[in-house]
Amino acid sequence: MIFETVTTLAFGALALKARLSQTGESNDSAKLQKIFNVTGLNVKDGKETYTTQLVKRKVQPWGVEYKYRLPLGRSFEDYQAKFKTIEAGLATRRVKWEIKDFRELKLTKDIIKDIQTLYKKKLSHKKEVELVDDNFLIIRVYNEPMVTELPWFAGTGWKVPVGQIREQNKKIFLDFEKIPHIVLGGATRYGKSNYINTLICSLLYTKPNCVKFHLIDLKGGVELSDYENLEQTVSIAYEPEEALETLKGAYNSMLEVQKRLKKLGKKKVQDAGIEERHFIIIDEVGELNPDEAVDKKDIVKDGVMIHKSEKTIKLECQLYMSKIARLGAGLGFRQILATQYGTGDIIPRQCKQNSDGKLCFRVQNGTASNVVLNGEGAEKLPDIKGRAIWQTPTKKFILQTPLINSTVIHQAIEKYIVEKTKEEVNESANENTKTSKPQTRKHSLVIEETRFS
Ligand SMILES: Nc1ncnc2c1ncn2[C@@H]1O[C@H](COP(=O)(O)OP(=O)(O)O)[C@@H](O)[C@H]1O
Ligand SMILES: [Mg+2]
Repeated sequence: MIFETVTTLAFGALALKARLSQTGESNDSAKLQKIFNVTGLNVKDGKETYTTQLVKRKVQPWGVEYKYRLPLGRSFEDYQAKFKTIEAGLATRRVKWEIKDFRELKLTKDIIKDIQTLYKKKLSHKKEVELVDDNFLIIRVYNEPMVTELPWFAGTGWKVPVGQIREQNKKIFLDFEKIPHIVLGGATRYGKSNYINTLICSLLYTKPNCVKFHLIDLKGGVELSDYENLEQTVSIAYEPEEALETLKGAYNSMLEVQKRLKKLGKKKVQDAGIEERHFIIIDEVGELNPDEAVDKKDIVKDGVMIHKSEKTIKLECQLYMSKIARLGAGLGFRQILATQYGTGDIIPRQCKQNSDGKLCFRVQNGTASNVVLNGEGAEKLPDIKGRAIWQTPTKKFILQTPLINSTVIHQAIEKYIVEKTKEEVNESANENTKTSKPQTRKHSLVIEETRFS
């Protein structure tokens, strides 16, 4: 009885508050004007003050969009520089109750505790804000923060998921038939390898009979070794010399496709009805930067190279990568390059030029963002794992990439693991003693030899 009275009273009080707050208009435009004033974004010229003029305020399903005309002497960058102040100024200081809050509350004995938790959560609620430069200054104030954890999902055909944008929680896909090569960037631990896993598993679900992987994991195999024994994996490399073999192999099979197409009098695999698509995936392409090679000296004896330096190996890798990027599109070869390094020519120029899709997670500064996106922006992403900018020639989105876990990966690969006995590996390794490959490569060599010899 007491419990019922308390809950009824609590609900009554909250419902009244909610009704009151519904009648009052959101006061963000007044707040914004105040922020512009106190931060000096409005311009004083003698007695005159030129203000940031509100042209339009539009209520959207996701929040409110404000459109401003900038005063003389101010640019979009001036406002962007005050982004943190604007965001902090719009943060909640008073709790506003809404009808939907009560729908989520359950009539249990914990109701008071639940209300307290909800109150605290609402009080610390920070509104997500976005500034857009669109001739006018556009400020978007969102009702709900964007999703921070998006469960993995598969795409369809050659389309793989990229993530979910804020507007109407729309899911965005990358169609490898339209955008063959992509570049992934971002500081370490923000989601590059997770995304590589996401796309590999999506392709295993949607195109298991047509997809071929050429994998290069220069982080010692921690990221891609799950795929080592897949029937779809043509080759896998963990060291630069192995990477060179893998790239050479991919390049050679690309030339084979080219020959086939020539015979058929066709220009593209799509026209020739060739269904196979090859994915060359390099996790940490920065490890193939020849400028950083320690061993720079080739040793040639009697006109024969007896030692190929690390620098030469990496240069050759970059040459193959460039060739694949240039010719691969019509031949069904796709290249995915990931890097954490935000400086210089980590990604060969040709590869970057031919990559129409760029996915960039949070980076330390504008220069690093420029390396991946050819523009700043990724340094201003919130400190959220999996949050990224997805850029194509026509579109640019901020999105949350899906998070994959080991269960999903194992379900995706289990059907395609090919059993290889130890004897098979050893036999093949013996055949290739000349090449004296490290132990880790013996497995991949088996596959490579059967495909390209
Ligand atoms: N899309 C995502 N959503 C949520 N958390 C993520 C996402 N991607 C990565 N993470 C988290 O960040 C960690 C590091 O991700 P990882 O892909 O290994 O980063 P990177 O390869 O950029 O160094 C993961 O272990 C995971 O906990
Ligand atoms: Mg990684």
